[in-house]
Parts: sequence; C-alpha cells; structure tokens
Amino acid sequence: MGLDARWSCLEVGAGTGTLSGWLTSVAASAGQVTAVDRDVRFLGHLSAEGARVIEADITDPAFHPGRFDLVHARFVLMHLRDREEVLRRMVSWLKPGGLLVVSDSLAVGGETSPHEAYRRTITGYWRMIAETIGSDRHCAAQYPRVLTGLGLRDVGMHTHLPVVGLDAGFGRFLALTLEQAKDRLLAAGLPAAVYDEAVEHLKDPMTREPFFAMATCWGRAPVGPRQQSAGFPLA
Ligand SMILES: C[S@@+](CC[C@H](N)C(=O)[O-])C[C@H]1O[C@@H](n2cnc3c(N)ncnc32)[C@H](O)[C@@H]1O
Repeated sequence: MGLDARWSCLEVGAGTGTLSGWLTSVAASAGQVTAVDRDVRFLGHLSAEGARVIEADITDPAFHPGRFDLVHARFVLMHLRDREEVLRRMVSWLKPGGLLVVSDSLAVGGETSPHEAYRRTITGYWRMIAETIGSDRHCAAQYPRVLTGLGLRDVGMHTHLPVVGLDAGFGRFLALTLEQAKDRLLAAGLPAAVYDEAVEHLKDPMTREPFFAMATCWGRAPVGPRQQSAGFPLA
C-alpha cells in the first residue's frame, strides 16, 4: 500500500505536524494536504510547506473538510469519547475508492509486568487517562470489525510493538509521558515511592518493558454506492 503523490490527503488531529509534513513533502503540488487540529499552535510551518491548516473540533457535526483520497489519524480516536461517530464521519470524508488509515494503541505488557512498581504505575496511568479524557487503550482491536461494518473494503491491520530498553526513542517517550502524568497519578493515589521506582526501572539499560503496540488499520471506500451497516459500537 503506497502513497500516490497525486492524492489529496487529510491528516486528522495533526498535533505537531510530523505526518502532515511528510505527506506534504511527497505531494506533487501545493494544497493537496490538509491538516486539522483544534490546537494549531505547532502547525505554522505546514502552511509555508504548502499544506492547508484548519483549526477545528473534529467532533463538531458541522465540520465538513471535503472529500479526500487519504484520510489519516494517529493516536487521536483512542482519546475521543465519541470516537465511533467521528470514525463514521471520517469515512464520509473519503472519495470513492479513498483510503482510511487509523493508528491507535493496543496496551501490551504494562498491566501484566512482573515488575510491581512498573505494573502499578502503568495500570494507574491507563486508568487515569480513561477517567479524565475518556481514552480507550484497547480500542484499536475493534477497528478491523468497525471499518468492515462501515462498508470499507480491503481492510487490513499491522502492529508495531516497541520495547523500552531496546528502542531509545520509545523509552524517552514513555519517560516524558509519565513525567507529564506524575501529579495526576499521585493525586489518584499512586504512592510517590512506587512512581519513583517505576521511573528508575525505566532508566535501567537492562529493562525490557512493552507499553503499547501501535496498531494501524486501513480500509478503502467502495467505488460504487456505499453500503453501511448500522450499529458497530467500538466499546
Ligand atoms: C496524541 S496527539 C497525536 C498527534 C499526531 N496525530 C501524532 O500522531 O503525532 C492527539 C492530537 O489530536 C488533537 N485533538 C484531540 N481532540 C481533538 C478534537 N476534538 N478536534 C481536533 N483535534 C483534536 C489534539 O489537539 C492533538 O494534537
């Protein structure tokens, strides 16, 4: 599944624009890539690179960005309480034959780790973001069924499972994530000593801990009239 330089692309929840920037560098002409986020503070560079940047709330039913050959979202839907409805609308933003690609986490390892402090910290982390944001650490497992139910064809899935201790970038990502979450984790009852022990564990070069796999699921809009099944709940 390759990217065609002539495609019009929509990046949903573009964040700092790493993916949109790459899409823009591949696009054959300016204006083919649209990046949307409710917080566009980090997307200024994209306009200069030829992308269209839209500040919008993707959960707003009035938001209609148009139709695209590629609609992509990474680590966005898992954090939305109304992800099912947003996913349906993302499918409606595809041109006939267009490709939807969604990546989210599949939690692996942390909650079953033999290291008690790491296990308690990661368990507390997933619980905390579920309660405060509404994040679902397992929702990607539903995507093959949901995308099929939404009428997409050629549905497929790929997972990538980085391991702390074997992937320096991923270890740094997890360390920063826990640092950012520290106050809320402690407020939710995680003892500071347990948190500190987990952080020390992650610094040990011999530590080998998964946290989540990135699961990427895709599907193609039918070229003929769309047939959607009703009711494919994610949760
Ligand atoms: C975890 S970040 C992922 C960023 C980017 N997709 C990536 O993988 O690097 C989630 C992004 O979704 C955006 N977002 C969350 N809810 C949104 C909403 N309702 N409307 C638009 N953007 C939203 C956030 O502002 C944030 O930039």
